[in-house]
Amino acid sequence: MKTSVVVGLQWGDEGKGKVVQYLSKVHKWVVRFSGGPNAGHTIYYADKKFVHHLVPSGDEKNFLFIARGTLIDLGILEKEVEELREIFDVKLYISPWCRVITAVDKELDEKIEKLKGPLAVGTTKRGIGPTVANDAHRMALRLFDFFDEEKVSQKMHLLKSVTSVEVNVEKVVEELLTHFYRLQRFVKEPSIDDDVLFEATQAVLLDPFYGTYPYVTSTACVPSTIAYSSGVNFEKMDVYGVFKAYTTRVGSGPFPTELFGEPAEELRKAGNEFGATTGRPRRCGWLDLPLLKYACDIANVDHLVMTKADVLNGFEKVGVCTSYEREDFSVYDLERTNAKIEYMAGWENLKDKNFEDFLSVIEDTLHRKVEMVSYGPQANEIFQR
Ligand code: IMP
Ligand code: MG
Repeated sequence: MKTSVVVGLQWGDEGKGKVVQYLSKVHKWVVRFSGGPNAGHTIYYADKKFVHHLVPSGDEKNFLFIARGTLIDLGILEKEVEELREIFDVKLYISPWCRVITAVDKELDEKIEKLKGPLAVGTTKRGIGPTVANDAHRMALRLFDFFDEEKVSQKMHLLKSVTSVEVNVEKVVEELLTHFYRLQRFVKEPSIDDDVLFEATQAVLLDPFYGTYPYVTSTACVPSTIAYSSGVNFEKMDVYGVFKAYTTRVGSGPFPTELFGEPAEELRKAGNEFGATTGRPRRCGWLDLPLLKYACDIANVDHLVMTKADVLNGFEKVGVCTSYEREDFSVYDLERTNAKIEYMAGWENLKDKNFEDFLSVIEDTLHRKVEMVSYGPQANEIFQR
């Protein structure tokens, strides 16, 4: 059995979807095991742009599985499946164990963010945190609850009374059930004994245990959690770590190499750095190698993939952080860290020697080769080194 995973090494939006699409050609299954509709993986099917929120980024050649670690928004999923079915024949399985996001969770996400004031995370408002919290209270809806309508109603009443969120339970239950029945034929745990490509969501630095807590998401993002969150057994896997040639982040939290003003604007515009899920402008900065090294080690990366290398084409100089002022930095304590930025001569195109020099600095710091470079959104715009 051949098993691989594509994992993001920064704060998300590294272009994992496109790399998954590329690698899905040599795998049978493509499996999501984490995150929820907070994710936005942008894929081009020929010229058609499509943002995946929940369905793994494979195509008609693959079997797609949304495994139990994934949080489902039934409305978003139904729409996505319908739209995808217009592009190709979708062979989809959804684990009955998946947690279901409700109107209560979305309302709570908004409410808690407001109450947090300066501690607000800047979530995608998709109800991610509250769904995980309510599941820890053992009162979240799981997909298997929907096989018994009474269960759904009972749990919605419970969610309402515990959280005091004002919702019309009857209406919400009816909506949820309607979506569920349209998706029901996909709700089945498959038996997977063949080659699998796992598609991680968010990224190492947004992982609740390994990221910049509390400015993180609420489901695991690191490969060590895959067997648990997917129910798929495998002996070993190849880890493809994906990073952008610079860094972006949406939401709050520390960002040592962040740029502001005109230079930030230039990078944002060049890379079209606006959220695929929320449309928010992303915070932009230079590549941060100490953090990237940390993420590579946590994720046990075997193969490094650089994306959006072309975005920096034509920049006069390119910044890169190779070290911090304090060597003993902690990821939970990045606010107290100052990045030392070095500037390198820019490049006109990716055949330029200056680009090779940039790659050498990265490889020397990470002790890993950058094996693939992606230079555009289309599936074929990637080269092996
Ligand atoms: P949540 O996952 O919606 O609770 O958001 C928590 C943090 O993770 C916020 O800073 C979000 O902007 C960030 N986040 C969640 N999903 C993504 C993603 O797919 N890409 C980039 N950032 C994300
Ligand atoms: Mg994204």
